[in-house]
Amino acid sequence: MLKWPQAVTIKEVGPRDGLQNEEIFVPTVDKVHLINQLSRTGLSYIEVTSFVHPKWIPALADSEQVVKSINREKGVRYAALVPNQKGLEKAIESNIDEVSVFLSVSETHNMKNMNKSIQDTLPILQSVIHDAKRSGKSVRGYLSTVFGCPYEGEISHQKILKLCDKLLEMGVYEISLGDTIGVATPKQVQELLNTLLKRFSAKQIAMHYHNTRGTALANVTASLDAGIITFDSSLGGLGGCPYAPGASGNVATDDLLYMLHKMDIQTGVDMSELLKASVYIQERLGRPLSSHSLLVYQNKKH
Ligand code: HMG
Ligand code: MG
Repeated sequence: MLKWPQAVTIKEVGPRDGLQNEEIFVPTVDKVHLINQLSRTGLSYIEVTSFVHPKWIPALADSEQVVKSINREKGVRYAALVPNQKGLEKAIESNIDEVSVFLSVSETHNMKNMNKSIQDTLPILQSVIHDAKRSGKSVRGYLSTVFGCPYEGEISHQKILKLCDKLLEMGVYEISLGDTIGVATPKQVQELLNTLLKRFSAKQIAMHYHNTRGTALANVTASLDAGIITFDSSLGGLGGCPYAPGASGNVATDDLLYMLHKMDIQTGVDMSELLKASVYIQERLGRPLSSHSLLVYQNKKH
């Protein structure tokens, strides 16, 4: 029998990855309410917003206000996406706990998302990582489109390895590997993790699956088999990158919790409290969310 970990860490990215992709602007007070609700579920990590250009991501234009207004629960680390020094200044001003830098392994996606080549992005990230750490912030790194890019297709393992090396050398403590457009399958996951885990420890790698084609939970299982113990997810299955056509929601935290708990893998997160938060944001958005467990929960209640 395969040996799975006894416990994993879930990094909730719904307030950022989820809301960045919504057409409607969720009022600040509702975002704050949502994050406060999530803070009481037992989650130890919440990515709450992005300090990116508001013209590029208008849905998160209130990032400073959000971070300054939430109730910080003990034992929860609050993180935000930061693309450059301007974003870092605001992140530090808001006293966020952790900064997430991001880069794509695809040249075209990086250009569309960051308005720069990979080569020109790296020194910017280096200075952000350096200055964030000097200000006492931990720094996480995202690599996007690692299983496929909407513009360039599959990217070589060599290129992914090289960029992982660079981010770790620059000082991130963990790299979150993004299946930005949800194309990955367990075979691809096994092959990539086989390569990466020869070089890096499982503690340095997190998986960030989008569920565009319904393969996200299968990919989580393949990652568990390989020894991965950190997963990003979004409540209700919210999520998507506006600069990656075809990107839809992250693996739903609700469904991830259901599967992990039934596999006797601890997360520390209270499923019923998480579902209440999913119901809350679903009502605010005024459309049904994609989480299967949320649907089951609602059908039971009626
Ligand atoms: P740019 O236009 O090239 O920026 O955007 P610039 O450095 O040339 O500056 C132009 C103007 O923007 C200046 O203002 C700057 O001050 C201002 P002006 O002097 O003209 O008045 N500016 C800013 N304002 C506010 N906050 C800032 C900021 N930076 C510059 N941080 C930039 C470059 C990177 C800022 C832009 O491309 C951007 O904001 N991109 C973010 C796109 C984004 O958020 N994408 C989604 C997140 S990534 C994702 O979802 C994938 C992930 O989930 C993993 C996965 O699924 O794979 C993480
Ligand atoms: Mg994402």
